[in-house]
Amino acid sequence: MKGFPTTIAIDGPAASGKSTLGALLAESLGYLYFDTGVMYRAVTLAVIEGGLYVEDEQAIGELAKSIRIDVQPPSVDDGREFDVLLDDTDVTREIRKESVNEHVSTISAYAIVREEMTAQQRRIAKENKVVMVGRDIGTVVMPDADLKIFLDASVEVRAHRRYQEMINRGERPDYDAVLRSLINRDQIDTNREIAPLKPAEDAVVIHVDCLGIQQVLSKAKELVKNV
Ligand code: CDP
Repeated sequence: MKGFPTTIAIDGPAASGKSTLGALLAESLGYLYFDTGVMYRAVTLAVIEGGLYVEDEQAIGELAKSIRIDVQPPSVDDGREFDVLLDDTDVTREIRKESVNEHVSTISAYAIVREEMTAQQRRIAKENKVVMVGRDIGTVVMPDADLKIFLDASVEVRAHRRYQEMINRGERPDYDAVLRSLINRDQIDTNREIAPLKPAEDAVVIHVDCLGIQQVLSKAKELVKNV
């Protein structure tokens, strides 16, 4: 029994519903919602726009140290939870594009990139009551988090979810390509040497295949009450 949790970590594979849960849970508690994936996506966008080779770990590390990523309250009413700024430019939509999806897992496996992002995430966790969402929040970024949740779901359910999200954004995705991309990302995220995707030993794992978001949210709220 630790008392009411003020630091909550939510981890899980791509499109498992972490971001939706994280945003709703943070809202219900009045905490900051912080989606760490956007930081890795912003670095990846900077790499692509800067014309760097995705394999050039050293140059990418230097770039990660030199850019400024900010996450701020939303300035546009298009359903976004926040604005993501890359050196003062709004990149909230660009970080979701296909070329970013394709390279983000390779780039976020690099040690210097992770060091930079982890340091910033820890600072945010120290300064706020926070629901932080990612792959390594319970294991590396906030190993002392008061509550750790790991969402798990089959890759098919996740692919359908991501496919639907893309349709809702007005895109015309190919389901098989979405599925292949998730399998590839899972593979890299799970097998990388540094901070691989896995539940912390003290995380509560929720299997969400057969659960709607409201059911997942009420399970999470129960956990918050009973930490
Ligand atoms: O939204 P989605 O689940 O597709 O992915 P995301 O949370 O935006 O994260 C994109 C990628 O960033 C992941 O596939 C990981 O490679 C990386 N990431 C990470 O390494 N560590 C985190 N804490 C968050 C994301």
